[in-house]
Amino acid sequence: MKFSLENILRKNIQELKPYTSARHEFTGSASVFLDANENAFGSPFDENYNRYPDPLQWQLKFQLAKIKGVPAENIAIGNGSDELIDLLFRICCNPSIDNVIICPPTYGMYSVNAAINDVAVQQVPLTDTFQLNVEGILKVIDENTKLIFICSPNNPTGNSINKSDVEILLQQFNGLVVVDEAYINYSKQTSFIQLLTEFPNLVVLQTLSKAWGLAALRLGLCYASMQIIDIINKVKPPYNINEASQKIALTALNQLDLVNEWIRITIQERELLIKSLKKFSFVKKIYPSDANFILIKVANANHLYEFLISRGIVIRNRTKEIGCTNCLRITIGTPDENENLLQSLNTYNT
Ligand SMILES: Cc1ncc(COP(=O)(O)O)c(C=O)c1O
Repeated sequence: MKFSLENILRKNIQELKPYTSARHEFTGSASVFLDANENAFGSPFDENYNRYPDPLQWQLKFQLAKIKGVPAENIAIGNGSDELIDLLFRICCNPSIDNVIICPPTYGMYSVNAAINDVAVQQVPLTDTFQLNVEGILKVIDENTKLIFICSPNNPTGNSINKSDVEILLQQFNGLVVVDEAYINYSKQTSFIQLLTEFPNLVVLQTLSKAWGLAALRLGLCYASMQIIDIINKVKPPYNINEASQKIALTALNQLDLVNEWIRITIQERELLIKSLKKFSFVKKIYPSDANFILIKVANANHLYEFLISRGIVIRNRTKEIGCTNCLRITIGTPDENENLLQSLNTYNT
């Protein structure tokens, strides 16, 4: 059966008459706006914060379109990619009927959002080298499988997922393949965005929370076919991206050189940290990373985690995740922070 979006969308979503915001219904120019029950006198700031923001964030999308080489109509913006993940569940998955596939160890919000939406999760763990078990995934797909989540580079393992494996799923699965590229800016692998014209069932997620340094603003990006983007825009809260975030992000997107320099230093620091960590006997394995963090296997993850906490250093203990026994995830910090970590590790007694 060929991919058809109608087969994937929930019936109530297909039939949804979306909320039309005050300024949606108006075209042309006007100077007096008495349509949205705003405070006409102003806001306590110089900015026009008394007015509702653009619900479709066009300025931001035009700027993103230039950087990414994707038409603005193929972009949706969420209050963090976490909002976009939740929207995909609500758009596609009928609670207590449909299911999704995830490949642990992976980002935790896929299964949290599944639980919130009362959607079953089929887990097909990654292989020993943290790649997709394509055969295993194809085997568990059933008529109620709506979404497959693939995180590349994967959190918490750090590696990129083989592109050809994802392409097999895109060809053989009639639901949506969601490729979460939160860490793509640190990766040697090219983005899946380039394949959007080839695969109507591809959804690519990115975020301004990582390399762009805007985690506090909550800006997640979704690239997909115009039909999918239209549905997301129908279902999302009308003003999900506030005016301050839109404005600041627009300025930030002009700072490509600064961001590229941060990426360069982060990758350099990652390689230095890997080299230094190899010297410690309690570090049993360092997994290859294409991200701004590394996963390491140590003799006793709980013990080392608590030790670092006692030294005021917080990392992420992943020992309870599938395939991650005694694993810790370390974000690459500034050169000073990484040095601080190494100095503490020098004093660690196993
Ligand atoms: C793989 C992955 N996807 C999405 C997110 C969430 O991104 P955002 O801050 O845009 O909600 C994270 C955050 O850590 C992540 O690791």
